[in-house]
Amino acid sequence: MFNINENYLKLPGSYLFSNIGKKVAAYKAENPDRQVISLGIGDVTQPLVPAIIEALHGAVDEMGKAESFHGYAPDLGYEFLRNAIAENDYKARGCNIAADEIFVSDGAKCDSANIQELFSADAKIAVCDPVYPVYVDSNVMAGRTGTYDPSTEVWSDVIYMPCLKDNNFAPELPEKTPDVIYLCFPNNPTGSTITKAQLQEWVDYANKVGAIIIYDAAYEAYISESDVPHSIYECEGARTCAIELRSFSKNAGFTGVRLGFTVIPKELVRGTTALHSLWARRHGTKYNGAPYIIQRAGEAVYSEAGKAQLKEQVGYYMNNAKIIKQGLQEAGYSVSGGVNAPYIWLETPKNMNSWEFFDYLLKNANVVGTPGSGFGPSGEGYFRLTAFGSYENTLEALKRIKSL
Ligand code: MLT
Repeated sequence: MFNINENYLKLPGSYLFSNIGKKVAAYKAENPDRQVISLGIGDVTQPLVPAIIEALHGAVDEMGKAESFHGYAPDLGYEFLRNAIAENDYKARGCNIAADEIFVSDGAKCDSANIQELFSADAKIAVCDPVYPVYVDSNVMAGRTGTYDPSTEVWSDVIYMPCLKDNNFAPELPEKTPDVIYLCFPNNPTGSTITKAQLQEWVDYANKVGAIIIYDAAYEAYISESDVPHSIYECEGARTCAIELRSFSKNAGFTGVRLGFTVIPKELVRGTTALHSLWARRHGTKYNGAPYIIQRAGEAVYSEAGKAQLKEQVGYYMNNAKIIKQGLQEAGYSVSGGVNAPYIWLETPKNMNSWEFFDYLLKNANVVGTPGSGFGPSGEGYFRLTAFGSYENTLEALKRIKSL
């Protein structure tokens, strides 16, 4: 008789965005005449830019000829892509990261869920609250989070670092010492950022207590202010305490294409073991590499044409962010985010909790957002809207919200 991994049974409900998807589908089925606008899940809406399409076509043609056909990709990614990443995302920003410290994958979501496999079962994790649910859920599945209290929505063995209005939605160093610290900046869901000096404090702290930081920089392309770091490796000492996760989903519209990467510096060691070797072993065993075609598309992100076209695309979404933020402020909402991130974080009005406001907005404005409480207990009373909709839908959504 087999036994199941009972840790899965501890997970409350379904994954946040599956839950929302089901609710919206039910509403649409009951109200087929309503034009529902989604500013919920952070999924992009604009087409891939011409430089990427051209690279995709070229790579598809190569796959159709015996002399340029590609089978399994190298475990850790093609050199052409790893070199382009090292050069553009790191060297150009003064960060010392070599191409062979970059592990190409099919996206940051999988990497952020899988990375916990490198740590012992008793490792204590610390997360921002609210937080991208994958960090916590993947640790629940691994049996690392203790018991769940449905009344407080808190796991007994997780260290929560509340990110609230009072601390500018930036976490403070925790009282209990964690082993693994998850940080995401620009932040999902709050859209907040921290300065390079603040991030340096985290790096110094992690090195001091022997913790590791998992730094999710999936939204770095949206940074508009100069004192906000694009990579944790801009900080001194990060090579001995930090893993960085990156995605092509938000900067290049790859949510349906799938490409990301994880950086593990070779100095990141525990005892005599380098985490780089562990992740390489894991990658080699469990993963067959992102497709050649997609890695060529990723390379095009760093071409001159690709960079110019993507700058425009990011600008398009950030214009939506501005429209949402200003519109909400004009309507009397208390709002943050939206300056260095494609997410706008608002306080729910009229004492509604996050899910009540979700239902209210869906029913009365036919607009979908994401309830803050879905990201953790400190998200209660907040709500997230994304700037990834089309310009037209964003304008229409705001018109509807303002007329409520
Ligand atoms: C979000 O809406 O938080 C993200 O799009 C989800 C994701 O990137 O997996």
